[in-house]
Amino acid sequence: MNVLKIIAQRFGKALETIGVEPGPYLELIRPSQDAKFGDFQANLAMPLGKKLGKAPRDVAAEIVANLNWNDWFEEPEIAGPGFINLKVKSERLAETLQKAATDERLGVDKTAKPRRVVLDYSAPNVAKPLHVGHIRSTMIGNSLARVHRFLGHDVIADNHLGDWGTQFGMIIYGFRNFLDRAAYDADPVNELARLYRLTRQLVDYRGAKKELPTAETLLDAAKKSVADQAAKVAEAKAAADADGTKEAKDALKKANKERDRLAKLLDAAQEKYDSVVGKIAGVEGNPEIAKLAEGREDIGEAVLAETSKLHHGDEENLALWKEFMPRCIAEVDKIYERLQVQFDETLGESFYNDRLAPLVDRLKQMGVARETDGAIGVFLAGDDVPMLIQKRDGGFLYATTDLATLEYRRDKFAPDAILYVVDFRQSRHFEQLFAAADFIGMGNVELTHVKFGTVLGDDGRPFKTRAGDAVGLKSLLDEAEARALAVLEANDANRPEAERLSDDEKRETARRVGIGALVYADLSQNRESDYVFSYDKMLAMNGNTATYMQYAYARVRSIFARGGVDVEALRKEFADGTRTLVLAAPEERALALELSKFEGALENVLRDYRPNQLTTYLYELANRYSAFFEKCPVLKADDENVKANRLLLCDLTARTIRKGLELLGIQTVERM
Ligand code: ARG
Repeated sequence: MNVLKIIAQRFGKALETIGVEPGPYLELIRPSQDAKFGDFQANLAMPLGKKLGKAPRDVAAEIVANLNWNDWFEEPEIAGPGFINLKVKSERLAETLQKAATDERLGVDKTAKPRRVVLDYSAPNVAKPLHVGHIRSTMIGNSLARVHRFLGHDVIADNHLGDWGTQFGMIIYGFRNFLDRAAYDADPVNELARLYRLTRQLVDYRGAKKELPTAETLLDAAKKSVADQAAKVAEAKAAADADGTKEAKDALKKANKERDRLAKLLDAAQEKYDSVVGKIAGVEGNPEIAKLAEGREDIGEAVLAETSKLHHGDEENLALWKEFMPRCIAEVDKIYERLQVQFDETLGESFYNDRLAPLVDRLKQMGVARETDGAIGVFLAGDDVPMLIQKRDGGFLYATTDLATLEYRRDKFAPDAILYVVDFRQSRHFEQLFAAADFIGMGNVELTHVKFGTVLGDDGRPFKTRAGDAVGLKSLLDEAEARALAVLEANDANRPEAERLSDDEKRETARRVGIGALVYADLSQNRESDYVFSYDKMLAMNGNTATYMQYAYARVRSIFARGGVDVEALRKEFADGTRTLVLAAPEERALALELSKFEGALENVLRDYRPNQLTTYLYELANRYSAFFEKCPVLKADDENVKANRLLLCDLTARTIRKGLELLGIQTVERM
């Protein structure tokens, strides 16, 4: 049940009656910022007045005259230049909430237009440990899956694991050449990750050695052209100073502009050179690694050959891959377990291997794909860079697999939408993929890149360890739990002995609070922004945090425990009409109004795939609850009816918070 929707319907009819196409105008009806102006405010008379050439207040009056309001709302008020203020009748609000409070779905209707949605999220490259960025894709995707389902959509959560790329060539090469058997037996994924990093470093080193002469030449040339241009600027300046003609001044401007352009090129050349030199120094400055590099001039080719052998079904490489996979996956699963994340399908890149060659052939036959520089690319309208689908050496690429995946998903699931929750740095890939989708006949399936920004450290740069690697997700979860545990222990120490949490309870509570804090901190951000990671902020008891929300929930639960209230019996009395909810105090009404907006908040999440619409709502709700709790005694209410009303509001608030958090992938706790 969503009051705003009722209002929109009514306004839609009123607008049609006065001969206006409602369209975008209905977006201008919003919750009021201030209760003084009612519960909702429609700001559409101003633009309409302009359009119709009438005074906005007259337009507002005309709309109101045609508005069917009296069953749901108090008489609408026209304010200021033409705002229409609406206040829901308190009886209707109470009635709505009474239904919600006795309903399993908290009064949230399922959508009238269910869609089938494939959600592509998490999708780590499994040969490497998960890092901080993976919490974003995993948890944004997880919450979108949950909200979709709750609203009655059909979701296929598909984990498109990176289980097949060049990374495996690296690992196989590393395994054959640098394996530390004992380390592998003790902690296989850690050792595989080491092998990956080491091999990668050596490949980059060889690449850098080859690039060095060119990088040097380019840098020298760039320096020289900047110096030459500086001389030209000086000449032009002298000329402009000597004779102030327009031509001379323009020439100077032009010379300056050219200098700036060349300076930028020099910066780029310098950066490239530094990076090449850095890669070389990283190996040559470390005797142990330098020794490994000796005699491996062709390591780059060797790694590609390992990948290619794997992709072409070489038995030995396939056997190694099959040995690594379950271990890598077990490691990833441990994280999913802690995060309570599930998938319906786990169709990694390897699943599509057999489909790639036929797909490329078909695209070639269709004339969509053709040769470019020895490789094969798909040429897209208005794009000068083709999307590569086959390398010169015959290998396939990330994009090839994604195209095959599109086809498979279309045929297997017949979805209305496919949503990719992936780092914004892959925007270009998805733009090209979606453009190419037309060629394989995706019809009008919605394809959306649900992109997200970067997690930053205190210094405002991507969050890295001291050694410069991305921060591992496992260590983040461990630390968040440890910190939550410390807070719980401090709290507990202030409790009488008999009320303390048991060790098990403490551990489980710390898990929920710690991980919940991390997840909430992530989801409460506008997903497209970068944000700075901070344990202290995310675990704060006050403010827009999971901890605050979990605390609000636990507080309500403790009221019920302290009062010895039988909550089932209470709900039943309201369900069977023994009792009727009445909203008297303004804080009761304000809380009730906020509770009635839950469905709208969930719809807002799906409108633009933004879980922070839900965190914002929950924060507002928790604040309304605090205000209510301050002004309206519950257990000490002086009237039995008032007490029952308030208890019901408490119960519905707690359940809404619990459901809201659950839809974000966060668990509540009974005590903390
Ligand atoms: N494995 C990829 C990566 O780690 C993400 C895959 C996202 N999904 C997709 N269908 N491309 O960057």
